[in-house]
Amino acid sequence: MFQRLPASVKVVEVGPRDGLQNETELVSTTDKVRLIKALAASGLKAIEVTSFVSPKWIPQLKDASEVAEALGVLPAVTTSCLVPNLRGYERFQETKLNELALFMSASESHSKKNINKTIAEALVALKEVADKGKADGYRIRCYVSVVFECPYEGRVGKSQVLEITEQLLSMGVDEISLGDTIGAATPKEVYEMVDLLAAKVDRSKLALHFHDTRGTALANVVAGLEAGVTIFDASIGGLGGCPYAPGAAGNLATEDLVYMLNGMGISTGIDLDKLVDAGALAQKILGRPLPGRYLKAALATREKEAARSHLCDSSPVRADSAIS
Ligand code: HMG
Ligand code: MG
Repeated sequence: MFQRLPASVKVVEVGPRDGLQNETELVSTTDKVRLIKALAASGLKAIEVTSFVSPKWIPQLKDASEVAEALGVLPAVTTSCLVPNLRGYERFQETKLNELALFMSASESHSKKNINKTIAEALVALKEVADKGKADGYRIRCYVSVVFECPYEGRVGKSQVLEITEQLLSMGVDEISLGDTIGAATPKEVYEMVDLLAAKVDRSKLALHFHDTRGTALANVVAGLEAGVTIFDASIGGLGGCPYAPGAAGNLATEDLVYMLNGMGISTGIDLDKLVDAGALAQKILGRPLPGRYLKAALATREKEAARSHLCDSSPVRADSAIS
């Protein structure tokens, strides 16, 4: 058991994009920037901060340019954002963000719902952006959504995922994030999918992006680690969903992931207490508790300790305990 655990992994925080794109109430630009800065303060070195998609499709992130402008440069942090087409690339180029995140789907139906394009059309649009991005010297990651199951078509063929992955690599994409968009994967399939792709792709280029709809996300991470993956996407407090994947719950919570990795002796460079501070801020901004389990437990402990110290502070000093 646990034959090949890595010494360290990269955690990619996607809450400000994957999480906030799904909120019904608009979050202010100021609050988005406060949250991103709190996440960076926890030691996260890769944060997806926003999305240059059509504001008609995702109004929640229509202030992407303002967010990027207010953020400026976060020292030593890779700041990425979704870009679907050349219009999005033009907007991205006006910012100081430093990584492009392209995205597409492994099923035709999800592709049409998400970006109004067939898979073949999506690959053409991605290549246009990738060519420009490479020429301009940007690092590029690309998501492939619904790699295990599509909400409209059911199980997705592994050979389809392999074919898409190879095409993305031929475009010069640096990192491919495999999306379990509706949180349907189980550990054995994760292991087998990575193993299959690894015949053609360097494992160090693969990331795993789990949503936790059916509670399998952490188990899937362990399977991914065993299969040699060292990059995992997660979202503060378990924020998230997918606007075009009915029933998709939030992403794997970043604090749950970091807690588990810490316990397994795998380093992330992230301070869990500061991550909890960021989670508490996210809850305050959104005005509701988030689903992350570690966050819930850590905040309950903090509350109990605060109540105890308040009790101690306010208890009357007994005359016989006075210092002589
Ligand atoms: P379309 O309607 O087919 O194309 O959208 P269009 O070119 O006709 O554009 C429609 C309007 O949007 C036009 O404006 C364009 O100018 C404008 P109008 O002429 O009507 O006034 N427009 C833009 N504006 C700003 N920035 C742009 C842009 N592009 C067009 N970049 C399009 C096609 C791809 C644009 C649209 O479908 C879209 O934006 N889709 C994004 C959907 C999305 O963001 N989904 C969620 C992210 S994916 C995800 O969550 C999964 C992931 O987390 C991994 C996983 O979990 O699996 C990544
Ligand atoms: Mg997602």
